[in-house]
Amino acid sequence: MDFEEYKELALKRAKIAINTGVLIIVFSVVWLLQVGLFPDLFDPAPEIVAMDTTNVQEEYIPSTTIDSADVVDGIHQPTGLIVDKGVEDVMVTCGACHSLNLVTQNRATREGWKDIIVWMQETQKLWDLGPKEEVILDYLGKNYAPENEGRRPNLVVEEWYHLN
Ligand code: HEC
Repeated sequence: MDFEEYKELALKRAKIAINTGVLIIVFSVVWLLQVGLFPDLFDPAPEIVAMDTTNVQEEYIPSTTIDSADVVDGIHQPTGLIVDKGVEDVMVTCGACHSLNLVTQNRATREGWKDIIVWMQETQKLWDLGPKEEVILDYLGKNYAPENEGRRPNLVVEEWYHLN
């Protein structure tokens, strides 16, 4: 390596060292300014921190209990649900995503309701209902069973006779 080559290499190294040094200084100054002048620059937005959350729950979480003053003839007036064992679980669980009219306007057997729940779980992001599922299915199968109104009432046979 002759002297010229050596000089070039030394200069290159010196430039890299200077550039690195300048970068470190710039970052340090920016960091010191940020810490010193704007200590909460990267903190959550002050309006979020300051938001008053004391009343939010009451506004957004629907009532989880049935107020007996709302029940007329066994129907919970605000939701239209038949008041029976499990109604509160149905009200809270099934009212979370859609109107409870979807429940009260449908009729199905217990198995049919199970299929509807599975369909919602597979396609509509309904969660696993855990132990509540049995309670909910009992309620739905009993209170929203297929109606038999269109069926002719059973004949009452007063007296049997033989056809000849
Ligand atoms: C995670 C959200 C979610 C929850 C919780 C939920 N559903 Fe649904 N459900 C849906 C969506 C979405 C639809 C489709 C609505 C539409 O078609 O407009 C639907 C539709 C329905 C339908 C109509 C099905 C049809 O054939 O059109 C019924 C009945 C129903 N839900 C009953 C229930 C019952 C009972 C529960 C409580 C066990 C429940 N839902 C809880 C999301 C949910």
